[in-house]
Formats: sequence, structure tokens, C-alpha cells
Amino acid sequence: MTEQQAKWPEGRRVVVEALGETPLEAIDQNLKIEVQAPPRIEERGPREVVLRVRASGINWVDVIMTSGQYQHVPAPPYTPGLEMAGEILWCGSEVEGWELGDAVIVDGILAGPRSLGDYRRWGGFATYAVAPVEALIPKPKALSFDAAATVLGAFETAYHVLVVRGQVQAGETVLVLGASGTTGMAAVQVAKALGARVIATGRRADKLERVKELGADHVVVTAQEDGSMRRFRDDVKALTGGRGVEVVHDGVGGEHSLEALRCVDFGARYLVVGWAATPLVARGKGKRGAPNANVLPTNLIMMKGLDVRGCPAVISAHRDPSLVPTRRRQIMEWVEAGKIAPHVSAHYDLDDVADGMRAKFESRHVGMVTLRP
Ligand SMILES: NC(=O)c1ccc[n+]([C@@H]2O[C@H](COP(=O)([O-])OP(=O)(O)OC[C@H]3O[C@@H](n4cnc5c(N)ncnc54)[C@H](OP(=O)(O)O)[C@@H]3O)[C@@H](O)[C@H]2O)c1
Repeated sequence: MTEQQAKWPEGRRVVVEALGETPLEAIDQNLKIEVQAPPRIEERGPREVVLRVRASGINWVDVIMTSGQYQHVPAPPYTPGLEMAGEILWCGSEVEGWELGDAVIVDGILAGPRSLGDYRRWGGFATYAVAPVEALIPKPKALSFDAAATVLGAFETAYHVLVVRGQVQAGETVLVLGASGTTGMAAVQVAKALGARVIATGRRADKLERVKELGADHVVVTAQEDGSMRRFRDDVKALTGGRGVEVVHDGVGGEHSLEALRCVDFGARYLVVGWAATPLVARGKGKRGAPNANVLPTNLIMMKGLDVRGCPAVISAHRDPSLVPTRRRQIMEWVEAGKIAPHVSAHYDLDDVADGMRAKFESRHVGMVTLRP
């Protein structure tokens, strides 16, 4: 142990010991908090850094991953925390341009449980993390650690969906389903930054008030008092002079998708982002196959001349890494200009990780939620 490392206190980390049949089963039965020894720097490479994690997003994907129902299945035992922001504690001998104490965001495509290589085990739900220097991004001064830990996943997704896949133009009307969630709220802000008009949906009026404050032009509540979905096509048609919207951003799925298909103009782009309302489309415990996948009616797609586009932000980046610098540059410019900012409405201590993950699964909060290890 070096003198420098001897000063680092013992840390703690969250571990998913085995995949569950469902996320709630995994959170209740397989989630543990354990002691984390500081990373041994004599074992670290010359192009690596050791970080003290200050905040990590508690994402829907972190929750779904615990049961292997997300397309990228982690190998347990693993530490969740796709996204993180923190401070540099140690730099390898070939690391240039970074100083100890620098505040950084870690690129979740290159490190953490959503990455593909050697850094998968260093999730953000921990005191310490290790990342390759290529994964470091300076934390914008305008963002807190909580906001910085959640800015990339949500806004890179929104950019990929609305700009790359959706080709949204100023003046078009975008219907954002599930707008009070993480990706939905980012989509509202990006659509506004692009000059579009936004109709935002959600189940709770109080959450939608926040979405409106953040830029949505109109909000539509989609739930009835008993929690079931209400028909919302008439609201959307009324807001669009009877025509329907040009673009749908759908991160909700299920019956909301079927209703949204009735809210569109001829030739609309229908952007498939996710299916938060039907999280159990795939088999649990990481078994392959998706026996409960959502199905869209081809008659409506054909007769309305719809353009249905799948929009996976991370898979697309793995297939074409050149997509990333452009979208990241634009996001950081918008952040600097104050046009977009993550809305973090709750944060949890490490001891309360299970409650934080359950809260995410149950959509208790608006926008982003973080863990502060
Ligand atoms: N394409 C990509 O690259 C990409 C990237 C990240 C995430 N995703 C996917 O996008 C989806 C949303 O992710 P997220 O991070 O935004 O999750 P999130 O923060 O949990 O937000 C999802 C929202 O969906 C709504 N919702 C949840 N269950 C619902 C139900 N039964 N009926 C109606 N509305 C419901 C909730 O809104 P209210 O309760 O406020 O109504 C919730 O806030 C997930 O499927 C995720 O896997 C895709």
C-alpha cells in the first residue's frame, strides 16, 4: 500500500448478488451493502483514474438490470450505478490534463455496469470507482454533482431520439409520453431547445406542473382516479386543431402507445424509446427472450403512413461511436447556455438504496433521482 492510499478510508458499495425474477424481488432479496476496500493503485493501469463517487443516478435501467430484464445483462455479483460524478483521487502515470480533486462525470458507455469491457464492475453505487481516462468529462460548473451524475444518460438519449432519429424541426408538435420521468423530462427540454411545441403526458397533475415549469407548452393527465388510463386522444387532437402531432416520444409503452397512435397526424414519426409501463416484457433472471413484448397495430401504421423508429441511444453509440462527440458537445453547450438542466427531485443515502430503487420503480418522484454514496 502506498502512503497516498493509506489515507483513504474504507468505503462501502452496493452489490447485487444474483439476478431476481423481477426487480422488486432482486431489490428485496439480493441487494447488499458491503465494505469496499480502497482500490489498490499498484494494480491500476497507467491510463486509469481512481474516483471518489459523489453522486450516482438511480435510473430505471439500474432497477431493471437487477432482474436481467434490460437488454444489457450484468454478471452478478455487480455494483449498480450506470452514471456517476465524483472527484479524482489518483491518476495513472500516463494520465494527462487532469489533476487530483478535479470534478468529473464518468461516461457510462465506457465504465460502469452499462459498459462492455474491463470497467463493468465499477458501478457508481459505491464510495470508490475506477475509470479509464477516456471516460472522463469535466463536470460543468453550473451543475451540482447530483445533476452532473444524471445529465448524460437522459439528455444523450433525448438528443439521439429527437435529433438523430426524430429529426424534429422548429415549429413541429411533439407528444412526450411519461414526461415526468427521467428521459421524458429531458425530452421536453430538448424538444423546446429545438424550437418544437411540446404536449407532455403523465399520470399525476402535480408532477406535470413541474414539467410545465420546465418548458412543456401543454400537459395532459392520462390517469383516471382509479389509476386506469383515460382516453387522451381528444385532448391532443383539441390542442392540434384536430390534426394530431407530428412526432411521438414514447418511453411508456403498453396501452399508452396504442392511445398515442390515435393522437398523430398523417406521416408522423413514432419514436420508440422504452416501455416503463410494461417493465416485464423479458423473462426474469436474465433468461433471453421477450415473451411479453409490446405489439403495435400494423393497420394504423399503414393507414396513417407512420414512420416507426427504434431509438436506442447506447446500442447506437456502440455501433457508431462517432455519434457521441456531436451529441455530447451540443448537450454541454445547452447546459452552459442554461437551456437544459437535469431536474433532480430526490437523493438517497447509500443505506437507503433499496428504498431509492423501489421509488424509481414505482415512479414516486419527478425527473431524476440520485444516490450519494
Ligand atoms: N432508448 C433509449 O436509449 C433509452 C434510454 C434510457 C431509458 N430508456 C427506456 O425508457 C423508459 C423510461 O425510462 P426513464 O428513465 O424515463 O424511466 P422513469 O424515470 O421511471 O420514467 C418513466 C415514466 O413513465 C411513466 N410510467 C411508469 N409506469 C407507467 C404506467 N404503468 N403507466 C403509465 N405511465 C407509466 C411514469 O410517469 P408518471 O408516473 O409521472 O406518469 C414515469 O415517470 C424505460 O423503458 C427505459 O428502459 C430508453
